[in-house]
Amino acid sequence: MSKKLSISSIKKRKGQEPLVMITAYDALFARLLSQSADMLLVGDSLNMSFAGRNDTISATLEQMIYHVNAVCSGAPESFVVADMPFGTYTDKVSALGNAIKMFQETQADCVKIEGGADKAHLVEYLTENGIAVCGHIGLLPQSVRSEGGYKVKGKTEQEREQLIKDAQAIESAGAFCMVIEGVKADVAKEVSESVKIPVIGIGAGKYVDGQVLVFSDMLGLFEAFTPKFVKKYMDGSSLVREAVATYANEVKTKDFPSEIHIY
Ligand code: KIV
Repeated sequence: MSKKLSISSIKKRKGQEPLVMITAYDALFARLLSQSADMLLVGDSLNMSFAGRNDTISATLEQMIYHVNAVCSGAPESFVVADMPFGTYTDKVSALGNAIKMFQETQADCVKIEGGADKAHLVEYLTENGIAVCGHIGLLPQSVRSEGGYKVKGKTEQEREQLIKDAQAIESAGAFCMVIEGVKADVAKEVSESVKIPVIGIGAGKYVDGQVLVFSDMLGLFEAFTPKFVKKYMDGSSLVREAVATYANEVKTKDFPSEIHIY
């Protein structure tokens, strides 16, 4: 990407060329991924694939700030979405205080918070105070413990209606775009059609305004489990294992370092 997208150019992509969002957690990958992505998401999923935890719940604000800074350094021309971790937006005061900290200590372009109509008052308060907000509705990873697992949404009429209400509530509250996760494709389509801001899907089918994937999933690096919606664009773990095995072998046989690698 040569030039950072603005919020208004992201909004204009509604129903137009799909937005490409991908997670990034460090400067090295941010630089590589930013070549083709419109938006980099420093997701709290880093707590799983980077920090090796079972879920996103224990990610902290300090941890997120550290990674957002790394991503912004590696890809200064990218639009960076900073996930607000679990417990940092339980009420208006904490949401604003923590989002201000994120904005003041990083170059993030917006924050992302999970929740629908129940979080609309927070989205409104943040946007009123100069913090751009990307919503996140549907399957909410920060609710995985309270919900007893990762549950696809939109399977019942009640869930379908609630998702539409959620999307409309956070749009009215001032969110400029939203992620929709783990929702039946036909329902995600209806949700997307019910709002004027871009809806970026993950596990929500193709009838939305863009897609987001976790980079370590789509590069085949994360092996603990593979959700149905993940497409692996390369077999990263095999490539890494093979490369390291070759290195280990060459160290043992003294084929490495060779003449060209010594002073
Ligand atoms: O934390 C994350 O990576 C996310 C994506 C799954 C959308 O929120």
